[in-house]
Amino acid sequence: MRIVMIGSGYVGLVSGACFADFGHHVTCVDKSEAKIVALEAGEVPIFEPGLDAIIQQNRSAGRLDFSTNLDPSVGDADVVFIAVGTPSRRGDGHADLSYVYAAAREIAAAVQGFTVVVTKSTVPVGTGDEIERIFREEFPDKDIAVVSNPEFLREGAAITDFKRPDRIVIGTEDGRAIEVMREVYRPLYLNEAPLYFCERRTSELIKYAANAFLAMKITFINEIADLSEKIGADVQKVAKGIGMDKRIGDKFLHAGPGYGGSCFPKDTLALVKTAQDFDSPVRLIETTVAINDNRKRAMGRKVIAACDGDVRGKKIALLGLTFKPNTDDMRDAPSITIVQALLDGGASVHAYDPEGMDAAKAVLGAVTYGKDPYEIAANADAVVIVTEWEEFRALDFTRLKSLMKAPVMVDLRNIYSLSDVVKYGFEYFAVGRKSQKQ
Ligand code: UGA
Repeated sequence: MRIVMIGSGYVGLVSGACFADFGHHVTCVDKSEAKIVALEAGEVPIFEPGLDAIIQQNRSAGRLDFSTNLDPSVGDADVVFIAVGTPSRRGDGHADLSYVYAAAREIAAAVQGFTVVVTKSTVPVGTGDEIERIFREEFPDKDIAVVSNPEFLREGAAITDFKRPDRIVIGTEDGRAIEVMREVYRPLYLNEAPLYFCERRTSELIKYAANAFLAMKITFINEIADLSEKIGADVQKVAKGIGMDKRIGDKFLHAGPGYGGSCFPKDTLALVKTAQDFDSPVRLIETTVAINDNRKRAMGRKVIAACDGDVRGKKIALLGLTFKPNTDDMRDAPSITIVQALLDGGASVHAYDPEGMDAAKAVLGAVTYGKDPYEIAANADAVVIVTEWEEFRALDFTRLKSLMKAPVMVDLRNIYSLSDVVKYGFEYFAVGRKSQKQ
């Protein structure tokens, strides 16, 4: 199959590289000349474990190429995926679809013969209908089927998620398009990944409903964490205890500083707006959004409380800044709100993140960066674990304590437990579990 991927951001690049790995011929297109030049030179502009190797192998095999121009490749393509950005529109939280519609028009102009155009970007319900309308009215001679095929991969685990998905959702009722999409995903179908066909609008809503449900599940356990702290229960054991019930499931029940990233915050907000527009409000999700926003601020207050309620003139060392491990992504990371609260409180903030410091410099204020946890812990009044990177899971507590001014540890990801840490003389503050002041 010949596939063109419009947009070489996170989803486009991972999907394009993985489709090439299945044996299809893929052209990844992006308007950014700098990005395409870098990709052609073998540089991968995002941090995603395993992605650079797949790109390199498939380029060498002649199955993957890059271009700033969609024109020649779209003419030969069986399938064109739209994977451009859909940022929150400034001011109202609606998804901004201007890039999607611009891409659709360019594709239609270049298409020759029957072609399937697929939205892979997360797009509000009805976007496929609108693209179809544009094609029908502006390009009546073109033979195009419009399909929705949302992506469910997670940053940091994107390759595995793409190649071993729980399901592949395909929204179309066009028989020819169904056959083409079966062919695109045949290698996964052989792996027994279920292809779930449904109407296009249903498929578009599945994507938002899935992300909103996961955001709500995290928010639920975060509130149970607050309650656990107050009543002397352990949220991790509560999560395990309820997760063993198959109807609830044990995933996405890890309490922490609130969800962030490029998807949950944007998609929950967009679903809230869509539902309001259709006069069918999703109040659970409205509340989820509000609780999560408050939670990030509450985490700043939690750190300040651990420092006896005052961080003025104190040095706080943050371990991890990205919204989760194995990514360099800082979008909507809880660290942004926490850093601001600490700076507002008069603290001097020092930070270390294995991959996110370049991105962090662009969004955080006056933070001093170090090369490892120990460098930033020197003379610190508290160490705060903000992101659960592997390399923070086996810290040398003796060394850490000897470097610090005051042995205070705030573990916002519950990677340690009280018994791990107090024996080294630390004061330990976790989320939804027992904390201890010396
Ligand atoms: C999320 C979804 O998990 C993917 O299925 C989806 O494809 C993607 O959004 C998207 O729409 O593109 P992602 O944002 O990469 O993926 O990250 P997650 O692993 O889902 O984590 C999101 C946030 O929730 C992170 O801040 C993470 O720390 C937090 N989280 C996750 C928790 O606080 N607790 C948990 O138990 C799980």
